[in-house]
Formats: sequence, structure tokens, C-alpha cells
Amino acid sequence: MSSVSDSSIRQFDFDVNPETASTLPAATYFDRDWFELEKRRIFRRNWRCVGHVNDVAGKGDFVTDAIVDQPVFALRCRDGSIRAFHNVCKHRAHLLLTAPRGTLKSKLITCPYHAWAYDNDGCLQAAPHCESIRGFDKSEIRLDALKVEIILGFIFVNPDLDAADLQPQVAPGVDRLARHLPDLETYRLASSITFDIAANWKNVGDNLLECYHCQPAHKAFVDLVDMDSYSVEVDGLWSWQGGICRPENTAYNLPAGLNDFEREFATLYIWPDVAFVLFPGSRAIASFVFGAVAAESTRQVFSVYTPDGELDDVTRDICRYFNDVLGPEDVALVENVQKGLHSMSYSRGRFFVDPARSFFSEHAVHHLHGLVFSHLQEFIADAS
Ligand code: FES
Ligand SMILES: [Fe+2]
Repeated sequence: MSSVSDSSIRQFDFDVNPETASTLPAATYFDRDWFELEKRRIFRRNWRCVGHVNDVAGKGDFVTDAIVDQPVFALRCRDGSIRAFHNVCKHRAHLLLTAPRGTLKSKLITCPYHAWAYDNDGCLQAAPHCESIRGFDKSEIRLDALKVEIILGFIFVNPDLDAADLQPQVAPGVDRLARHLPDLETYRLASSITFDIAANWKNVGDNLLECYHCQPAHKAFVDLVDMDSYSVEVDGLWSWQGGICRPENTAYNLPAGLNDFEREFATLYIWPDVAFVLFPGSRAIASFVFGAVAAESTRQVFSVYTPDGELDDVTRDICRYFNDVLGPEDVALVENVQKGLHSMSYSRGRFFVDPARSFFSEHAVHHLHGLVFSHLQEFIADAS
């Protein structure tokens, strides 16, 4: 671990028991060498949600994304399948697709720089003047693919072609969400908002994964959700948290007459950087991707999908609450934490995890930290 500059993270241990554990050391939230390891060992080897199948409904439709510094795109191919590739031309590395989403102008993926053109399999089909180039065989050139998996209609991609399938590692949580919304494959994007946050991605994830902060920091949220019913479950590569909503509250009002199941607010987290949020009183779902950009920069994209791609009155009110109230409250929290993490007076904190796993329990944060630790353990001297 000589490549990590901060001595506090060259050597530390991590307690697998959440009830007695401390958090990851503060420097793991800003040390650039540590982030470099996360980039290579976590983000290049795990699954990223890049959108929904209906974001690429038509042949030639694409979405682009960046897995930290790795530009990628997913494409609806002419045979109807969805494939994903690294978004870089094999000639001199221009990005192939520069828009966040769109439709190919022809059957080929054409580089804007010198017009090399690739087919839907990633094979190079045309390169202007290539017949004059000695020893150039365009059949030897193809784009590098990523693994693709569709879960609940959402497209997950993985740069690691040897990665284990995601579905078996998240199935119980996914099934639970599908019981609420069984037809997610047909949903369409209705609204999306991006927050660029001056904080490490784990800091954003930590905040997402506990509701200990809800009573002090989210007054309307604890009026919406009955905290006595709030629970958090962790397993495999996912965690689930939620509780039963009150129909009348200061966040947004639910339609009358819903049963307890229909009034369940819930968040399904899938390692490393996405959560799906269920809104009682609406058929909508939100994907919440908190993509690391740099050690202290995270791009959070909150996208709402509905059965018809429209926002009804209740869903519009939910978006207003999340975009204008809850989202900004959380952004302020994590940015202030990020500043505090640099303090010479702070190194690690104690997780608050009680035996009953009460509403305030931070065991899902410990779960995230444990996954980070397990991915980087080999770089930490004498880790136990
Ligand atoms: S960089 Fe793409 S064609 Fe030259
Ligand atoms: Fe929050």
C-alpha cells in the first residue's frame, strides 16, 4: 500500500460485526491514491446502472455514461438486443458518442473525428482511405464490449467480462420491489435531475443508507414516514430500507384509502452506487445513481420513471419534495461531512447499530463499508 499517501489508511482493521465496528478511516474519503484503487478495484469490476430499456426503445437509440473515467455507452441494436461498449474510437481515442442520449444517424456508429464507422457488434466496417494503409486490416479492429444485464427493466453494465451475474446477488431485494411494481420493464422516463456534489461517493452512499439523521435533518420526511415502522435489511450486494407512510403529512399527501403495503416507502440499494426509490401513492419509481467523478466529487442523478412517462399530480408533488426539499437537505449534509472529514480532529466514527436494528440503526452503512473494505483489503497492511 506504499502508493497510498495518507498513513492512516496504509494500515487499519475493519470490524465485521456492525454492533462494535467503526467506520472506514476519514482519509478513504479524500485520499487520491485510495480513490485510484477504488476506481480500479470497485468501479471497473462491478455493475453500473446506465438507464432503462425504454431509454433505448428504438433501434439505434443509445445512452452514454462514465464509470468514473471510463466512457461507456449502451445501444439498442438492429436485432433488438441491448449491447454496451467502451465509448472510445480505436483510431485516436475520440469519444464515439458525445450526447447523453440519442439515436444513431445511420446503421453504423460513426466517430466524429475521422469517420471510422463500427457496426452494432462493434466491428470496424469503414475507415476512410484505409485501403492505402500498409498492413491495415479493419477486420482486426472492434470495440471492446461490456457485460450487460437487465434487472427490473434497468440496464446494468460491467467492464469486467469475468464478473459474476448480478441478478443472483440481489434477487431477494429485487423481488421485493417487483411485488410493489411488477411491470417496471414497461416504464418510461418522466423526469431527471442532476446534483453535482462536492463529496466522496461513499459519503453520499452513507447518507442514503441510514435514517438516524432523518429526525434531526428531514422534518417533513419523518412526518411522511412513521419511524416506528422503519426498518433496514442488508444481504449480499443489496440492502432495503423503508417504512409505512402517513396519508397526510408535510412532505406530500397520499391518496386516501391505501393499505399498509401500498403505503410502504422503500429504497433498494444495489452495490456500489445505485438505489431505487418507491413512492407510496404513486406508480413511479426513481433510480438514484451516485456516480463517483473524483475523490471528492460525485454526480447524483435522480431519474423518475412512470408507466406512461408522464407525471400525474401526486408524482409531480413527490418530485417537488425530493428535488426541492429532501435532495438539497441531503446535499448540504454530505458536503458538510466532506469538510469535516478533513479535520485533524477526526479519524473514524462509531457506527450506531443496536441489537434490535431499530429505525436509527446504521448497519446498512456498515454493509457498504464492508464491501469497500473487502474489495481493497489486499492493499491494506495487516488488515484483520
Ligand atoms: S479518432 Fe475516431 S476516427 Fe479518428
Ligand atoms: Fe437524508
